[in-house]
Parts: sequence; structure tokens; C-alpha cells
Amino acid sequence: MIYQSAHDIVFEDVFLDLGGLVPDVRLLVKLEGLNPAGSIKLKPAVALVESLEAQGLRQGQRVIESSSGNLGIALSAVCAAKGYELTVVTDPNATPAAVRTMEALGARVVVISERDGNGGYLASRIAFIMAAIARDPDLMWPNQYANPANCAAHHQRTALGIHREVPHADVLVIGVGTTGTLMGCLSYYREHSPATRVVAVDAEGSVLFGGPSGKRHIPGLGVSRVPEIFTDTGTFEKVVVPETETIEMCRLVARRHGLLVGGSTGTVLAGVRRIAPTLPVGATVVAVSPDLGERYLDSVYSDSWVAERYPDANVVPKERWAIV
Ligand SMILES: Cc1ncc(COP(=O)(O)O)c(C=O)c1O
Repeated sequence: MIYQSAHDIVFEDVFLDLGGLVPDVRLLVKLEGLNPAGSIKLKPAVALVESLEAQGLRQGQRVIESSSGNLGIALSAVCAAKGYELTVVTDPNATPAAVRTMEALGARVVVISERDGNGGYLASRIAFIMAAIARDPDLMWPNQYANPANCAAHHQRTALGIHREVPHADVLVIGVGTTGTLMGCLSYYREHSPATRVVAVDAEGSVLFGGPSGKRHIPGLGVSRVPEIFTDTGTFEKVVVPETETIEMCRLVARRHGLLVGGSTGTVLAGVRRIAPTLPVGATVVAVSPDLGERYLDSVYSDSWVAERYPDANVVPKERWAIV
């Protein structure tokens, strides 16, 4: 198959059957990390740039966006291919590799290390963008937290892909950050498959579902401020997972199933494990895996990184696995 642009290389029909991870259910993981940007964010990145083009974005003009990593990488790829300049505003939770990847794709990266009032960085990153736009009105900000194009990309592509490949899913499990994936898939599923339970999984310390704000260390999921695109429609279930469970799950999947998953995939799968008692025997569960694990080798998969941040985490020592 021959593609004209790197950002067109997106696979909507790749699922891994993770049978056995949760007893007595069919667990299908939709792998979104198998594209040139390495994450689900390639689809919203294309849609966000197209929304700016509809507003008059010109070749050579500068785009600015806030991202904890993956959207920044995806936007860098799309802007490089389409001839737009890009500044990504990120924070210390972005991995050094993510920052280097964005820079290699031609983006300028600004790291904001001042926490906001909720203990996160989002409000600080957005304040930086507002100030930059006030100085330079020619900057264009797609604003993934407020732009309906983010949700539309998942309605039109992610949800459609899942429904086409697995038409009778009983449960669809989705992690939440900007909530673009959740909102887009939810609107699709309520219209086309209303019986499917949709479960949103958030990281502990995120304020999205009303819990207390707290420090989080794994990029991707969770917010320190509720995104404008989010509506609590009452038509989905909510699960909150502590980062220690995310880490345990990532390591379990890597060592038991040979798939190095990203942090938010660990959160989503830990969410599936949490709802396991509510799943009927034989249920088909689809879990969306936003990215793969290479970007997390120095965090989630590093024993010293984990030991420093979560001294009580039940991280299985490597020697024990070696014996098994
Ligand atoms: C790895 C990863 N997982 C999950 C998400 C959350 O997806 P969404 O922003 O659609 O809620 C993101 C968002 O950046 C991400 O990078």
C-alpha cells in the first residue's frame, strides 16, 4: 500500500486479544501506537490542523499548542509535512525522548516547570500560550482541550474502526486526558450501539471526575482542569486508577504478553481489572491502547524511577520473573 503522507498511515483494524488478563472475558486491545507518530494523537493532530486551515492557516505560519508529549509529537509530524512552524508547550512530565522527537521533527519546545493551583501544569501551560498569543496575534492555537475537531476525529475514525471490526462489543474502555477520545467514541456509540457500556478511566490525582487534585507523574491521562470539550453526559461509567496500579499493569502485560505498552494503556487495563466483577462471563471488552511503551523505558519501566516516586509500589523484582 502506498501513502502520500506519513500522517495518513493509520491502522484502525489492529486489535490484540489479551485473553487471560481478566478471567472469563474476551479482552481486545485496540493498538493505536502503530503509526508514524506512535500514538492515537495522530488522528486529532490531523483534525486540529485541518480546523486551523479552515480558519486560514498559511504555509510558514506558526502554530502553538500545549501537550504532555504525544499530541506534540503528532502535531510536529503533521506540521512538518504540511509546512507549518510549531511551538509545543509542555512540562517536566514529558519524557526527554518525547521532547527530542518533537525537536527532531522541527518543532520548538518550551518546558513549563511551574505547577498550577491544582498541582498539575495544564493551567500554567495555557497561561503561557495566552501570553504568547497576546504578544503575537499571528500565532494559531488549535487548543485540543476546547476544539470539537479533537472529538470529531475519534467519532469519525477511532469509534468507527472499533465498531466495524468488533460490531458487538459489550464494553468499551477508554482513558481520559483531553477527553477527545471519550467524547468522540461516546457520541458514536450512543448513536450506533447504545447497548455498549462505555467506561472512562482516569488517573488518581486528576480532577476530571471531581476527585481531589494530586501529583501525577505519568503523562497522557488525567487533567488538572476540566477540558471545555468534556460533558458529563451521564451515559458512561467512571473508574479512577492510582499510578501504582498503572505501573504494575504495564509490567505485567510486558512480561506476560510480550507487549510493551504505554502508561495510559496500563491505566486502561487496570481499569478493566477493576470492573472485572461486573463483567458477565463471555463478555467482549474492547480497551483502547493509546501508545506503546518505548517512551516509558526511563519511567514506568525503570525500577529506580518507580522506587523514588512510589516507595510502596508492589513492583515485581526482575529476578522473580527470571525464575518463572
Ligand atoms: C498516551 C496517551 N493516552 C491517552 C491520552 C488521552 O486521550 P484524550 O486526550 O483523547 O483524552 C493521551 C493524550 O494525550 C495520551 O497521550
